[in-house]
Amino acid sequence: MHIKVQSSGQTALHRVILIAKPEQLENLKLNQAEQHYALKHIKNGSPLLINRYESFLHLVQVEPQDHDYKTAEALRRAGNMLVSTLLELGSESLMVGSADEALSPLHFAEGLSLGSYQFLKYFSDADARKHPLREIYLEGPTEQEVQHLQACVNGTSKARDLVNEPLSFLTAEQLAAEAARVGKENGLSVEIMAQKKIESLKMGGLLAVNRGSEDPATFTVLEHKPKGAVNKRPIVLVGKGVVYDTGGMSLKSTANSMDKMKSDMGGAAAVIGAMAAAGEANLPVHLIALIPATDNRPGKNAYVPGDVITMYDGTTVEVMNTDAEGRLLLADALAYAQKYDPELVIDLATLTGAAAVAIGKFGLVGMGTASTPVLDALDVAGQQSYERLAQFPLWEEYRELLKSPVADLKNVGGREGGAITAGKFLEHFTDYPWVHLDIAGPAFLNSAYHYLPVGGTGVGVRILFEYLKAQS
Ligand code: BES
Ligand code: ZN
Ligand code: ZN
Repeated sequence: MHIKVQSSGQTALHRVILIAKPEQLENLKLNQAEQHYALKHIKNGSPLLINRYESFLHLVQVEPQDHDYKTAEALRRAGNMLVSTLLELGSESLMVGSADEALSPLHFAEGLSLGSYQFLKYFSDADARKHPLREIYLEGPTEQEVQHLQACVNGTSKARDLVNEPLSFLTAEQLAAEAARVGKENGLSVEIMAQKKIESLKMGGLLAVNRGSEDPATFTVLEHKPKGAVNKRPIVLVGKGVVYDTGGMSLKSTANSMDKMKSDMGGAAAVIGAMAAAGEANLPVHLIALIPATDNRPGKNAYVPGDVITMYDGTTVEVMNTDAEGRLLLADALAYAQKYDPELVIDLATLTGAAAVAIGKFGLVGMGTASTPVLDALDVAGQQSYERLAQFPLWEEYRELLKSPVADLKNVGGREGGAITAGKFLEHFTDYPWVHLDIAGPAFLNSAYHYLPVGGTGVGVRILFEYLKAQS
């Protein structure tokens, strides 16, 4: 999807006009019959089609809300409502303008383009299924605003594509290759560390999880280092790249609990998507991404409960459940991040069922040691992107739950506060300002929800992009 600034005098077959209240219909140069019809039928949030046969006018009423971020979300949802109409009409391009300054075409276009995402790679009739919409022209926003939106939407689509890829394609090596490809396309530098290198670095967490696998682990590093970056020390993004989570020897045993586990690299996908977006938009922020990747499965030499492993930083961990694998490879990556002397580290992971149970698909669970201003800025970015943050506490008491009789830590803390004990485990491996985002709830959906499609949602890209944009 191409999103562009509308140039003067430009016309298109399909036009959208956003209005805040019915009275604004009067300023739109409708003929009397059209105005009468529109006044009678317009409903808040759902587009009304005025069919002029030679052109199509879509009137969209969105009432401004008590907070700007809520209005933005109402606009995204209204944009998504137009997706099916445009498919029926076969529209290839569209112009969007607004009759009210509280209503930005940007958010409408965002919902429309996010809502028209499709993953068609494995359909034999992919061409026939393809949504015809190619171009959206916006009246009002600046070139830069449009470019930022485009980068963010592209990054989100890439993340969704990666999550939707099954293990039959997306092994750890393939995830690294995709990260490299996407990185190069967006001007990032790329380093892929292969199994041998990971072994020589003694990344015991990543290697333990990989032991049951036929496929080698990978650890990918992406870097965006623009001239004139606003930060002296980098911001490091870490993404959980478990390309498939069977649970390992502690095999997932509850009904359907394995069905969507191709999405267990949703954190990695979000990090790759956000890096791509930052690269495409050339945000003046020095960024590094770390992506430890493997599948987690039982196998001849798989790690087992009771094993004691030595992590990259030398910490010993008693493995009590091989299904708590994400924290093991994230811990190695977080310890590795120290070498960059980071200003801030943010990790994203589909880490715990507990986070999903706590808040569902409606937001991200966040916790960390970063300063209040950083957490507040992330909170604002979460509202603006509507990838909202629910902050959980990292109270000291939770640490007790990770005590092992034989090693420095154990990898599970029991049922109480499951999302937090996972975070507490990660905290042990950090010595810099850090935020952990558990996206287990919203990363993958069984059915579409507004502009979030069934399957991979790309959650995480938009909050990160908003946050990084605000820093620059
Ligand atoms: N990948 C899962 C978490 C998950 C669950 C993500 C549901 C998305 C949807 C993770 O590796 C896991 O299995 N966590 C266990 C941890 C437990 C064994 C301490 C969990 O949450 O049950
Ligand atoms: Zn697991
Ligand atoms: Zn997992």
